[in-house]
Amino acid sequence: MHDFLFKKGELYCEDVPIRAIAQKVGTPFYVYSHHTIVDHFTKIQKAFAQIDPIICFAMKSNSNLAVLKTLVDLGAGFDIVSVGELKKALLVKADPKKIVFASVGKTEEEIATAMKAGILFFNVESLPELAEINRIAKRLRKKPKVAIRVNPDVSAVTHEKITTGTLRKKFGIDLKTTRGIFKNRRKYPNLEFSGLHIHIGSQIVTKEPFINAIQKLIEFIERLRHDGTQLEYLDIGGGLGIIYKDEKPQTAQDFANAVLPYLEKAGLKVVLEPGRFIVGNAGIFVTRVLYLKDNGLKKFLIVDGGMNDLIRPALYDAYHEIVPVKETKALRKKMDVVGPICESGDFFAHDRELPVLKKGDLLAIMSAGAYGYVMSSNYNIRGRVPEIFVKGNQFEISKPRESFKDLIRGERIPTFLN
Ligand code: LLP
Repeated sequence: MHDFLFKKGELYCEDVPIRAIAQKVGTPFYVYSHHTIVDHFTKIQKAFAQIDPIICFAMKSNSNLAVLKTLVDLGAGFDIVSVGELKKALLVKADPKKIVFASVGKTEEEIATAMKAGILFFNVESLPELAEINRIAKRLRKKPKVAIRVNPDVSAVTHEKITTGTLRKKFGIDLKTTRGIFKNRRKYPNLEFSGLHIHIGSQIVTKEPFINAIQKLIEFIERLRHDGTQLEYLDIGGGLGIIYKDEKPQTAQDFANAVLPYLEKAGLKVVLEPGRFIVGNAGIFVTRVLYLKDNGLKKFLIVDGGMNDLIRPALYDAYHEIVPVKETKALRKKMDVVGPICESGDFFAHDRELPVLKKGDLLAIMSAGAYGYVMSSNYNIRGRVPEIFVKGNQFEISKPRESFKDLIRGERIPTFLN
């Protein structure tokens, strides 16, 4: 479900024509739908209602303040990976007791700041990190909760670059080492060992990888119980896939039906970390046609957005549906949709059949709400594009377009060159 639909021949976000936004803010831009976000969050909440989990939105997927505020108002917490994300979460008044912090490379400053903020727990990804958190806790006279992020060594059928749960990847701690940590917990007197965490990958459309991982985890928890360890939390990460093209992903309810029996058996408080499922289809990227070029062999539709704005096609060969914002009966031809960046990887689609559009026409790149704006850069000295937020028939610029002044803020020529 999403709220980007055609009405009277043109694309709308809820009750706002995309054309009206383009007129006001220029192109390119991202636009997010309040209603889609609410709908997706609520679907997860309802599907898991019987165990009342803490739903920590993975804000690495989209950290726009309007998106975060919408989710906080629905009772969401956050899965964070940096002090920057922590600060944004606190800015929208997230409850620190609903914030979990994962990342293989947390710095001393990040750990201390999160500890002072009183987050729910740290998801610990290595032995030296555990020692570091223990040391900082002693210095700050705190006793923070930690969950060990285990690497269950299961493969998830997804893109190689977004698989995380196998031992060939940098994430988490293997089961043997984890068992040792619990046995030697006295070595870390300033920590409260309260949970286990897994996150096996992203854009996973079937239930089996989740079941495999959770099953492994439950067996492991049994072994820990046998060793005398009682846990409080089980954080099963994110990873639910969405529809980009013709995927038939599990629904939130399918997912819940598959994993609830295991989770209920474990009897621990469950934390979920969905990102893409909530925001992926709640946002689109809108760009404008600059030129149509035909070199005899291929046609290129050159648009004003580039890989610096939306890098998923370049980085993962990701498929995003592309639709003209105004329906047209123009002849359809195969073409590459490309941006202005000086890289061959700067494309949104290869050999895609699209109507032959003309200069100034608007195109929507769909399902761009997750890992879109957040992965954008200033490559080729291009300002980040604005983020627009829609609710019903209202829209506002949530984050303005970056100006040249923004781009060179603080930059200067060293005195010794003058
Ligand atoms: N929890 C942890 C610890 C994670 O590392 C991630 C995503 C999530 C939760 C949320 O996963 P989701 O529900 O969104 O699948 N840039 C890539 C995706 C990278 C995912 C990183 N971790 C892409 O554009 O496909």
